[in-house]
Amino acid sequence: MATKKKGGAKKEAPSSMGRKTGVPADRSSSGGRKTAAMMIEPAKGKLGVMVVGLGAVATTMIAGVEAVRRGLAKPIGSLTQMGTIRLGKRTDNHSPRIKDFVPLADLKDIVFTGWDIFEDNVYEAAAHAAVLQPETLKKLKPYLSKIKPMPAVFDRYYVKRLDGTHVKKGKSKRDLAEQLRADIRAFKKTVNRVVMIWAGSTEIFLKPTAVHQSIEAFEKGLEKNDPGIAPSQIYAYAALKEGVPFANGAPNLTVDFPAMIELSKLNSAPICGKDFKTGQTFMKTVLAPAFKARMIGVKGWFSTNILGNRDGEVLDEPHSFKTKEESKLGSLEYIFQPDLYPDLYSDIYHKIRINYYPPRGDEKEAWDNIDIFGWLGYPMQLKVNFLCRDSILAAPIALDLVLFLDLAKRTPELRSLGIQEWLSFYLKSPETAKGLYPEHDLFIQSMKLKNTLRHIMGADLITHLGLEYYD
Ligand SMILES: NC(=O)c1ccc[n+]([C@@H]2O[C@H](COP(=O)([O-])OP(=O)(O)OC[C@H]3O[C@@H](n4cnc5c(N)ncnc54)[C@H](O)[C@@H]3O)[C@@H](O)[C@H]2O)c1
Repeated sequence: MATKKKGGAKKEAPSSMGRKTGVPADRSSSGGRKTAAMMIEPAKGKLGVMVVGLGAVATTMIAGVEAVRRGLAKPIGSLTQMGTIRLGKRTDNHSPRIKDFVPLADLKDIVFTGWDIFEDNVYEAAAHAAVLQPETLKKLKPYLSKIKPMPAVFDRYYVKRLDGTHVKKGKSKRDLAEQLRADIRAFKKTVNRVVMIWAGSTEIFLKPTAVHQSIEAFEKGLEKNDPGIAPSQIYAYAALKEGVPFANGAPNLTVDFPAMIELSKLNSAPICGKDFKTGQTFMKTVLAPAFKARMIGVKGWFSTNILGNRDGEVLDEPHSFKTKEESKLGSLEYIFQPDLYPDLYSDIYHKIRINYYPPRGDEKEAWDNIDIFGWLGYPMQLKVNFLCRDSILAAPIALDLVLFLDLAKRTPELRSLGIQEWLSFYLKSPETAKGLYPEHDLFIQSMKLKNTLRHIMGADLITHLGLEYYD
Protein backbone atom coordinates (compact mmCIF):
# COMPACT_ATOMS: atom_id res chain seq x y z
CA MET A 1 0.00 0.00 0.00
CA ALA A 2 1.32 3.42 -0.88
CA THR A 3 1.31 6.19 1.67
CA LYS A 4 1.69 9.89 1.31
CA LYS A 5 5.19 10.92 2.25
CA LYS A 6 5.89 12.77 5.45
CA GLY A 7 8.09 15.40 3.88
CA GLY A 8 5.69 16.23 1.10
CA ALA A 9 3.29 18.13 3.28
CA LYS A 10 3.88 21.62 1.99
CA LYS A 11 0.17 22.33 1.41
CA GLU A 12 -0.82 21.16 4.87
CA ALA A 13 1.70 23.32 6.68
CA PRO A 14 2.42 26.35 4.53
CA SER A 15 4.56 28.20 6.98
CA SER A 16 5.98 25.51 9.17
CA MET A 17 9.55 24.32 9.23
CA GLY A 18 9.57 23.06 12.78
CA ARG A 19 8.30 19.56 12.24
CA LYS A 20 10.71 16.68 12.17
CA THR A 21 10.12 15.83 8.53
CA GLY A 22 8.62 19.12 7.38
CA VAL A 23 9.57 20.94 4.23
CA PRO A 24 10.43 24.63 3.99
CA ALA A 25 7.41 26.80 3.33
CA ASP A 26 9.19 29.43 1.29
CA ARG A 27 10.53 28.13 -1.98
CA SER A 28 12.91 31.04 -2.34
CA SER A 29 14.47 30.19 0.99
CA SER A 30 16.83 27.70 -0.56
CA GLY A 31 16.62 28.77 -4.16
CA GLY A 32 15.65 25.20 -4.97
CA ARG A 33 13.03 23.64 -7.20
CA LYS A 34 9.91 22.45 -5.49
CA THR A 35 8.56 19.13 -6.63
CA ALA A 36 5.34 17.36 -5.82
CA ALA A 37 5.55 14.94 -2.97
CA MET A 38 5.78 11.44 -4.27
CA MET A 39 4.24 8.25 -3.17
CA ILE A 40 6.82 6.09 -1.50
CA GLU A 41 5.77 2.73 -0.19
CA PRO A 42 6.55 2.39 3.51
CA ALA A 43 9.39 0.16 4.67
CA LYS A 44 7.01 -2.35 6.19
CA GLY A 45 8.12 -5.80 7.32
CA LYS A 46 11.40 -7.58 6.71
CA LEU A 47 14.06 -6.55 4.21
CA GLY A 48 15.89 -9.60 2.87
CA VAL A 49 19.50 -8.95 1.86
CA MET A 50 21.07 -11.54 -0.42
CA VAL A 51 24.85 -11.21 -0.39
CA VAL A 52 26.94 -12.83 -3.10
CA GLY A 53 30.28 -13.76 -1.55
CA LEU A 54 30.43 -14.04 2.24
CA GLY A 55 34.01 -12.85 2.57
CA ALA A 56 35.66 -9.99 4.45
CA VAL A 57 33.34 -7.14 3.42
CA ALA A 58 30.11 -9.13 3.66
CA THR A 59 30.83 -10.68 7.06
CA THR A 60 32.00 -7.32 8.44
CA MET A 61 28.74 -5.76 7.30
CA ILE A 62 26.57 -8.57 8.69
CA ALA A 63 28.41 -8.78 12.02
CA GLY A 64 28.38 -4.99 12.25
CA VAL A 65 24.63 -4.74 11.70
CA GLU A 66 24.06 -7.33 14.41
CA ALA A 67 26.47 -5.53 16.79
CA VAL A 68 24.61 -2.26 16.21
CA ARG A 69 21.23 -3.95 16.68
CA ARG A 70 22.42 -5.27 20.02
CA GLY A 71 23.75 -1.90 21.10
CA LEU A 72 27.34 -3.16 21.17
CA ALA A 73 28.68 -0.61 18.69
CA LYS A 74 27.79 2.47 16.66
CA PRO A 75 27.25 2.38 12.87
CA ILE A 76 30.17 4.69 12.14
CA GLY A 77 30.76 5.37 8.46
CA SER A 78 27.12 4.83 7.53
CA LEU A 79 25.36 7.89 6.12
CA THR A 80 21.96 6.24 6.39
CA GLN A 81 22.44 5.59 10.11
CA MET A 82 24.40 8.65 11.25
CA GLY A 83 23.99 11.32 8.56
CA THR A 84 21.74 14.35 8.71
CA ILE A 85 20.17 16.38 5.93
CA ARG A 86 19.64 20.13 6.06
CA LEU A 87 16.15 21.26 5.13
CA GLY A 88 15.30 24.88 4.38
CA LYS A 89 17.40 27.93 5.21
CA ARG A 90 20.59 27.79 7.26
CA THR A 91 18.79 29.99 9.78
CA ASP A 92 16.03 27.41 10.16
CA ASN A 93 18.37 25.09 12.02
CA HIS A 94 16.51 22.08 10.73
CA SER A 95 18.70 19.08 9.98
CA PRO A 96 16.92 15.81 10.74
CA ARG A 97 18.67 12.47 10.52
CA ILE A 98 18.42 11.00 7.05
CA LYS A 99 16.77 7.89 8.46
CA ASP A 100 14.12 10.07 10.11
CA PHE A 101 13.53 12.04 6.92
CA VAL A 102 13.21 9.23 4.35
CA PRO A 103 11.46 5.93 5.07
CA LEU A 104 14.40 3.52 5.23
CA ALA A 105 14.23 -0.04 6.46
CA ASP A 106 15.18 -0.29 10.12
CA LEU A 107 18.27 -2.35 10.88
CA LYS A 108 16.19 -4.62 13.09
CA ASP A 109 14.14 -5.61 10.04
CA ILE A 110 17.10 -6.80 7.96
CA VAL A 111 17.45 -10.53 7.31
CA PHE A 112 20.67 -11.75 5.68
CA THR A 113 21.35 -14.68 3.44
CA GLY A 114 23.89 -15.33 0.71
CA TRP A 115 25.98 -17.56 -1.49
CA ASP A 116 29.62 -18.57 -1.36
CA ILE A 117 31.89 -21.11 -2.98
CA PHE A 118 33.00 -22.22 0.50
CA GLU A 119 30.66 -23.84 3.02
CA ASP A 120 31.79 -21.76 6.01
CA ASN A 121 28.96 -20.09 7.90
CA VAL A 122 29.22 -16.34 8.49
CA TYR A 123 30.91 -16.78 11.86
CA GLU A 124 33.59 -19.05 10.39
CA ALA A 125 34.03 -16.83 7.34
CA ALA A 126 34.35 -13.73 9.54
CA ALA A 127 36.91 -15.49 11.73
CA HIS A 128 38.86 -16.46 8.62
CA ALA A 129 38.71 -12.90 7.24
CA ALA A 130 40.13 -11.70 10.59
CA VAL A 131 38.80 -8.18 10.22
CA LEU A 132 36.91 -8.09 13.52
CA GLN A 133 38.40 -9.02 16.86
CA PRO A 134 37.70 -12.58 18.12
CA GLU A 135 36.04 -11.09 21.26
CA THR A 136 33.60 -9.14 19.08
CA LEU A 137 32.82 -12.19 16.96
CA LYS A 138 32.35 -14.44 19.98
CA LYS A 139 29.52 -12.23 21.24
CA LEU A 140 27.80 -12.53 17.88
CA LYS A 141 28.56 -16.20 17.27
CA PRO A 142 25.07 -17.69 17.84
CA TYR A 143 23.59 -15.31 15.27
CA LEU A 144 26.40 -15.44 12.72
CA SER A 145 26.72 -19.25 12.82
CA LYS A 146 23.14 -19.60 11.69
CA ILE A 147 23.77 -17.83 8.37
CA LYS A 148 25.00 -20.51 6.01
CA PRO A 149 25.75 -19.86 2.37
CA MET A 150 23.81 -21.41 -0.46
CA PRO A 151 25.92 -23.11 -3.16
CA ALA A 152 27.35 -20.54 -5.53
CA VAL A 153 27.48 -20.09 -9.28
CA PHE A 154 31.20 -20.09 -9.90
CA ASP A 155 33.72 -20.74 -12.63
CA ARG A 156 37.47 -20.61 -12.08
CA TYR A 157 37.98 -19.15 -15.51
CA TYR A 158 36.70 -15.84 -14.11
CA VAL A 159 38.53 -15.84 -10.72
CA LYS A 160 41.72 -17.76 -11.28
CA ARG A 161 43.10 -17.64 -7.75
CA LEU A 162 40.09 -19.33 -6.12
CA ASP A 163 38.67 -22.80 -6.18
CA GLY A 164 35.63 -23.82 -4.17
CA THR A 165 33.52 -26.91 -3.77
CA HIS A 166 30.23 -25.37 -2.66
CA VAL A 167 29.13 -24.76 -6.22
CA LYS A 168 25.96 -25.33 -8.24
CA LYS A 169 25.98 -27.65 -11.22
CA GLY A 170 23.97 -26.90 -14.32
CA LYS A 171 23.67 -27.85 -17.98
CA SER A 172 24.07 -24.24 -19.07
CA LYS A 173 24.44 -20.72 -17.71
CA ARG A 174 20.69 -20.39 -18.29
CA ASP A 175 20.13 -23.39 -16.03
CA LEU A 176 22.35 -21.82 -13.35
CA ALA A 177 20.42 -18.54 -13.63
CA GLU A 178 17.18 -20.46 -13.10
CA GLN A 179 18.64 -22.09 -9.98
CA LEU A 180 19.52 -18.67 -8.59
CA ARG A 181 16.03 -17.40 -9.41
CA ALA A 182 14.62 -20.32 -7.46
CA ASP A 183 16.85 -19.35 -4.49
CA ILE A 184 15.53 -15.78 -4.68
CA ARG A 185 11.90 -16.88 -4.91
CA ALA A 186 12.30 -19.21 -1.93
CA PHE A 187 13.88 -16.42 0.16
CA LYS A 188 11.18 -13.97 -0.93
CA LYS A 189 8.59 -16.18 0.77
CA THR A 190 10.25 -15.52 4.14
CA VAL A 191 10.64 -11.71 3.90
CA ASN A 192 8.73 -8.72 2.50
CA ARG A 193 11.29 -7.24 0.13
CA VAL A 194 14.67 -8.32 -1.27
CA VAL A 195 17.89 -6.58 -2.37
CA MET A 196 21.00 -8.31 -3.75
CA ILE A 197 24.60 -7.13 -3.42
CA TRP A 198 27.75 -8.56 -5.01
CA ALA A 199 30.57 -8.72 -2.45
CA GLY A 200 32.25 -11.58 -4.29
CA SER A 201 35.79 -11.64 -5.61
CA THR A 202 36.90 -9.48 -8.51
CA GLU A 203 36.46 -11.33 -11.79
CA ILE A 204 38.73 -11.08 -14.83
CA PHE A 205 38.51 -8.03 -17.07
CA LEU A 206 35.74 -8.40 -19.64
CA LYS A 207 34.59 -5.94 -22.27
CA PRO A 208 30.96 -5.82 -23.42
CA THR A 209 30.39 -7.82 -26.61
CA ALA A 210 27.36 -8.53 -28.82
CA VAL A 211 25.90 -10.78 -26.13
CA HIS A 212 25.59 -7.80 -23.77
CA GLN A 213 23.70 -5.53 -26.14
CA SER A 214 20.10 -6.65 -25.52
CA ILE A 215 18.11 -8.87 -23.19
CA GLU A 216 17.41 -11.23 -26.06
CA ALA A 217 21.10 -11.57 -26.99
CA PHE A 218 22.01 -12.08 -23.34
CA GLU A 219 19.41 -14.81 -22.87
CA LYS A 220 20.66 -16.61 -25.99
CA GLY A 221 24.18 -16.25 -24.60
CA LEU A 222 23.08 -17.88 -21.33
CA GLU A 223 21.79 -20.85 -23.27
CA LYS A 224 24.95 -21.12 -25.34
CA ASN A 225 27.32 -20.62 -22.40
CA ASP A 226 28.81 -17.50 -23.96
CA PRO A 227 32.26 -16.89 -22.37
CA GLY A 228 31.43 -13.16 -22.08
CA ILE A 229 28.91 -14.02 -19.35
CA ALA A 230 30.68 -14.23 -15.98
CA PRO A 231 29.03 -15.59 -12.82
CA SER A 232 28.40 -12.08 -11.44
CA GLN A 233 26.27 -11.38 -14.53
CA ILE A 234 24.27 -14.55 -13.91
CA TYR A 235 23.47 -13.38 -10.36
CA ALA A 236 22.57 -9.91 -11.58
CA TYR A 237 20.36 -11.31 -14.32
CA ALA A 238 18.56 -13.56 -11.81
CA ALA A 239 18.03 -10.61 -9.45
CA LEU A 240 16.73 -8.24 -12.11
CA LYS A 241 14.47 -10.92 -13.62
CA GLU A 242 12.93 -11.28 -10.16
CA GLY A 243 12.55 -7.50 -9.83
CA VAL A 244 15.25 -7.37 -7.14
CA PRO A 245 17.58 -4.32 -6.95
CA PHE A 246 21.26 -5.17 -7.45
CA ALA A 247 24.44 -3.44 -6.26
CA ASN A 248 27.91 -4.40 -7.41
CA GLY A 249 30.68 -3.89 -4.88
CA ALA A 250 33.42 -5.13 -7.22
CA PRO A 251 34.77 -3.71 -10.49
CA ASN A 252 33.51 -6.58 -12.70
CA LEU A 253 31.43 -6.08 -15.81
CA THR A 254 28.13 -7.05 -14.20
CA VAL A 255 25.23 -4.62 -14.69
CA ASP A 256 26.98 -1.93 -16.71
CA PHE A 257 25.85 -2.91 -20.20
CA PRO A 258 22.69 -2.40 -22.27
CA ALA A 259 20.99 -5.76 -21.59
CA MET A 260 21.06 -5.23 -17.81
CA ILE A 261 20.09 -1.57 -18.03
CA GLU A 262 17.10 -2.57 -20.16
CA LEU A 263 16.15 -5.36 -17.75
CA SER A 264 16.52 -3.08 -14.75
CA LYS A 265 14.07 -0.58 -16.24
CA LEU A 266 11.70 -3.22 -17.53
CA ASN A 267 11.34 -4.87 -14.13
CA SER A 268 11.72 -1.70 -12.01
CA ALA A 269 14.74 -3.25 -10.32
CA PRO A 270 17.20 -0.45 -9.52
CA ILE A 271 20.92 -0.75 -10.24
CA CYS A 272 23.84 1.62 -9.61
CA GLY A 273 27.52 1.71 -10.55
CA LYS A 274 30.22 -0.60 -9.29
CA ASP A 275 33.19 -1.06 -6.95
CA PHE A 276 32.92 0.30 -3.41
CA LYS A 277 34.73 3.64 -3.16
CA THR A 278 36.69 3.08 0.03
CA GLY A 279 40.39 3.89 0.60
CA GLN A 280 42.62 5.35 -2.04
CA THR A 281 39.96 6.28 -4.60
CA PHE A 282 37.87 7.87 -1.86
CA MET A 283 40.83 10.14 -1.09
CA LYS A 284 41.50 10.76 -4.79
CA THR A 285 37.97 11.99 -5.35
CA VAL A 286 38.42 14.42 -2.46
CA LEU A 287 41.87 15.75 -3.39
CA ALA A 288 41.48 15.97 -7.16
CA PRO A 289 38.41 18.26 -6.95
CA ALA A 290 40.35 20.47 -4.51
CA PHE A 291 43.23 20.89 -6.97
CA LYS A 292 40.81 21.56 -9.78
CA ALA A 293 38.77 24.06 -7.78
CA ARG A 294 41.95 26.11 -7.21
CA MET A 295 43.35 25.61 -10.74
CA ILE A 296 46.41 23.76 -9.42
CA GLY A 297 48.03 21.63 -12.14
CA VAL A 298 48.88 17.93 -11.80
CA LYS A 299 51.80 16.26 -13.51
CA GLY A 300 51.77 12.81 -11.95
CA TRP A 301 49.84 10.67 -9.51
CA PHE A 302 51.47 7.49 -8.30
CA SER A 303 49.35 5.23 -6.11
CA THR A 304 50.53 2.04 -4.53
CA ASN A 305 48.97 -0.32 -2.01
CA ILE A 306 49.92 -3.30 0.09
CA LEU A 307 47.20 -5.60 1.34
CA GLY A 308 47.11 -9.17 2.50
CA ASN A 309 43.52 -10.36 2.56
CA ARG A 310 41.87 -12.76 0.12
CA ASP A 311 40.88 -9.82 -2.05
CA GLY A 312 44.57 -8.88 -2.24
CA GLU A 313 45.42 -12.44 -3.27
CA VAL A 314 42.79 -12.37 -6.04
CA LEU A 315 44.00 -8.96 -7.22
CA ASP A 316 47.55 -10.24 -7.39
CA GLU A 317 46.43 -12.18 -10.47
CA PRO A 318 46.90 -9.96 -13.54
CA HIS A 319 43.45 -10.51 -15.11
CA SER A 320 41.60 -9.58 -11.93
CA PHE A 321 44.03 -6.69 -11.32
CA LYS A 322 43.26 -5.32 -14.79
CA THR A 323 39.56 -5.11 -13.85
CA LYS A 324 40.43 -3.19 -10.66
CA GLU A 325 42.97 -0.98 -12.40
CA GLU A 326 40.45 0.18 -15.02
CA SER A 327 37.97 1.02 -12.28
CA LYS A 328 40.53 2.98 -10.26
CA LEU A 329 41.98 4.86 -13.22
CA GLY A 330 38.73 6.38 -14.43
CA SER A 331 38.07 8.90 -11.68
CA LEU A 332 40.93 11.36 -12.28
CA GLU A 333 40.30 11.68 -15.99
CA TYR A 334 36.67 12.63 -15.39
CA ILE A 335 37.35 15.00 -12.50
CA PHE A 336 40.18 16.89 -14.20
CA GLN A 337 38.48 17.31 -17.60
CA PRO A 338 41.80 17.74 -19.46
CA ASP A 339 39.96 18.86 -22.59
CA LEU A 340 38.72 21.93 -20.69
CA TYR A 341 42.02 22.52 -18.86
CA PRO A 342 44.82 21.39 -21.19
CA ASP A 343 47.44 23.56 -19.43
CA LEU A 344 46.75 21.88 -16.11
CA TYR A 345 45.78 18.28 -16.72
CA SER A 346 46.54 17.10 -20.24
CA ASP A 347 49.82 15.46 -19.33
CA ILE A 348 49.23 13.46 -16.12
CA TYR A 349 51.14 10.26 -15.48
CA HIS A 350 48.74 8.15 -13.43
CA LYS A 351 50.00 4.82 -12.14
CA ILE A 352 48.33 2.35 -9.78
CA ARG A 353 49.86 -0.65 -8.07
CA ILE A 354 48.32 -3.24 -5.75
CA ASN A 355 50.77 -5.56 -4.02
CA TYR A 356 49.69 -8.70 -2.20
CA TYR A 357 51.50 -8.69 1.14
CA PRO A 358 50.03 -11.32 3.51
CA PRO A 359 51.37 -9.97 6.85
CA ARG A 360 49.03 -6.97 6.58
CA GLY A 361 45.78 -8.92 6.23
CA ASP A 362 42.85 -6.55 5.82
CA GLU A 363 44.87 -3.60 7.16
CA LYS A 364 45.83 -2.10 3.88
CA GLU A 365 48.36 0.65 3.51
CA ALA A 366 48.17 3.03 0.60
CA TRP A 367 50.70 5.62 -0.53
CA ASP A 368 50.07 8.39 -3.01
CA ASN A 369 52.70 10.68 -4.39
CA ILE A 370 51.15 13.59 -6.24
CA ASP A 371 53.28 15.93 -8.33
CA ILE A 372 51.43 19.19 -8.62
CA PHE A 373 52.33 22.67 -9.93
CA GLY A 374 51.20 26.17 -9.10
CA TRP A 375 51.67 29.83 -10.02
CA LEU A 376 54.04 30.19 -13.01
CA GLY A 377 54.39 26.41 -13.15
CA TYR A 378 56.41 26.00 -9.93
CA PRO A 379 56.38 22.32 -8.84
CA MET A 380 55.19 20.99 -5.48
CA GLN A 381 54.43 17.57 -4.05
CA LEU A 382 51.82 16.08 -1.80
CA LYS A 383 52.23 12.67 -0.09
CA VAL A 384 49.33 10.75 1.33
CA ASN A 385 49.83 7.69 3.48
CA PHE A 386 46.51 6.08 4.34
CA LEU A 387 46.63 3.21 6.84
CA CYS A 388 43.11 2.01 6.49
CA ARG A 389 41.10 -1.11 7.08
CA ASP A 390 39.52 -2.11 3.84
CA SER A 391 36.45 -3.90 5.08
CA ILE A 392 35.83 -1.44 7.92
CA LEU A 393 35.48 1.23 5.24
CA ALA A 394 33.49 -0.97 2.84
CA ALA A 395 30.94 -2.48 5.26
CA PRO A 396 28.92 0.72 5.90
CA ILE A 397 28.95 1.48 2.18
CA ALA A 398 27.49 -1.94 1.44
CA LEU A 399 24.82 -1.37 4.09
CA ASP A 400 23.90 2.08 2.77
CA LEU A 401 23.68 0.81 -0.80
CA VAL A 402 21.33 -1.94 0.29
CA LEU A 403 19.08 0.44 2.24
CA PHE A 404 19.01 3.11 -0.46
CA LEU A 405 18.34 0.58 -3.24
CA ASP A 406 15.41 -0.70 -1.20
CA LEU A 407 14.19 2.90 -0.88
CA ALA A 408 14.60 3.37 -4.65
CA LYS A 409 12.55 0.23 -5.27
CA ARG A 410 9.73 1.65 -3.14
CA THR A 411 9.87 5.05 -4.84
CA PRO A 412 7.93 4.98 -8.13
CA GLU A 413 9.88 7.83 -9.76
CA LEU A 414 13.25 6.22 -8.96
CA ARG A 415 12.56 2.56 -9.63
CA SER A 416 11.38 3.24 -13.17
CA LEU A 417 14.74 4.89 -13.98
CA GLY A 418 16.79 1.72 -13.65
CA ILE A 419 20.20 3.37 -12.99
CA GLN A 420 20.36 5.26 -9.69
CA GLU A 421 22.98 7.87 -10.47
CA TRP A 422 22.49 9.48 -7.05
CA LEU A 423 24.26 6.46 -5.51
CA SER A 424 27.51 7.34 -7.36
CA PHE A 425 28.68 8.66 -3.99
CA TYR A 426 29.55 5.13 -2.92
CA LEU A 427 31.21 3.81 -6.05
CA LYS A 428 34.50 3.98 -7.89
CA SER A 429 32.74 3.54 -11.23
CA PRO A 430 29.39 5.32 -11.18
CA GLU A 431 26.85 4.29 -13.81
CA THR A 432 25.07 6.94 -15.85
CA ALA A 433 22.61 7.28 -18.69
CA LYS A 434 24.12 6.77 -22.13
CA GLY A 435 26.18 9.74 -23.28
CA LEU A 436 26.53 11.27 -19.79
CA TYR A 437 29.92 11.48 -18.14
CA PRO A 438 29.94 10.21 -14.55
CA GLU A 439 30.42 12.57 -11.61
CA HIS A 440 33.37 11.38 -9.49
CA ASP A 441 33.80 14.45 -7.26
CA LEU A 442 32.76 13.21 -3.81
CA PHE A 443 31.13 16.52 -2.87
CA ILE A 444 29.09 16.78 -6.05
CA GLN A 445 28.06 13.17 -5.45
CA SER A 446 27.09 13.97 -1.87
CA MET A 447 24.98 16.94 -3.01
CA LYS A 448 23.37 14.83 -5.70
CA LEU A 449 22.46 12.15 -3.17
CA LYS A 450 21.00 14.56 -0.65
CA ASN A 451 19.11 16.57 -3.26
CA THR A 452 17.62 13.33 -4.58
CA LEU A 453 16.35 12.57 -1.08
CA ARG A 454 14.92 16.11 -0.77
CA HIS A 455 13.37 15.75 -4.22
CA ILE A 456 11.58 12.47 -3.56
CA MET A 457 10.29 13.85 -0.26
CA GLY A 458 8.98 17.02 -1.91
CA ALA A 459 11.39 19.27 0.01
CA ASP A 460 13.19 22.23 -1.56
CA LEU A 461 16.51 21.43 -3.17
CA ILE A 462 19.51 23.23 -1.72
CA THR A 463 21.64 25.15 -4.21
CA HIS A 464 23.95 26.93 -1.74
CA LEU A 465 23.25 30.24 -3.51
CA GLY A 466 22.50 32.03 -0.24
CA LEU A 467 21.82 35.55 -1.60
CA GLU A 468 18.54 35.71 0.31
CA TYR A 469 20.42 36.05 3.60
CA TYR A 470 21.63 39.49 2.44
CA ASP A 471 18.32 40.95 1.21
N1 LIG B 1 37.20 -3.98 0.98
C1 LIG B 1 37.21 -2.92 0.22
O1 LIG B 1 37.57 -1.83 0.61
C2 LIG B 1 36.72 -3.05 -1.19
C3 LIG B 1 36.63 -1.91 -1.93
C4 LIG B 1 36.17 -1.98 -3.22
C5 LIG B 1 35.81 -3.19 -3.74
N2 LIG B 1 35.94 -4.32 -3.02
C6 LIG B 1 35.57 -5.56 -3.67
O2 LIG B 1 34.62 -6.25 -2.92
C7 LIG B 1 34.76 -7.63 -3.17
C8 LIG B 1 34.80 -8.36 -1.85
O3 LIG B 1 35.97 -8.01 -1.14
P1 LIG B 1 36.42 -8.87 0.12
O4 LIG B 1 37.58 -8.16 0.71
O5 LIG B 1 35.24 -9.19 0.95
O6 LIG B 1 36.95 -10.19 -0.60
P2 LIG B 1 36.99 -11.67 0.00
O7 LIG B 1 37.93 -12.42 -0.88
O8 LIG B 1 37.23 -11.68 1.45
O9 LIG B 1 35.50 -12.18 -0.23
C9 LIG B 1 34.99 -12.54 -1.47
C10 LIG B 1 34.13 -13.77 -1.27
O10 LIG B 1 33.45 -14.03 -2.49
C11 LIG B 1 33.42 -15.43 -2.67
N3 LIG B 1 33.14 -15.66 -4.07
C12 LIG B 1 33.95 -15.51 -5.14
N4 LIG B 1 33.29 -15.79 -6.27
C13 LIG B 1 32.02 -16.10 -5.92
C14 LIG B 1 30.86 -16.47 -6.64
N5 LIG B 1 30.88 -16.57 -7.96
N6 LIG B 1 29.73 -16.71 -5.95
C15 LIG B 1 29.70 -16.61 -4.60
N7 LIG B 1 30.78 -16.27 -3.86
C16 LIG B 1 31.91 -16.02 -4.52
C17 LIG B 1 34.77 -15.89 -2.16
O11 LIG B 1 34.76 -17.26 -1.84
C18 LIG B 1 34.94 -15.01 -0.93
O12 LIG B 1 34.41 -15.61 0.22
C19 LIG B 1 36.04 -7.80 -4.00
O13 LIG B 1 35.70 -7.94 -5.35
C20 LIG B 1 36.75 -6.50 -3.77
O14 LIG B 1 37.60 -6.15 -4.84
C21 LIG B 1 36.38 -4.28 -1.73
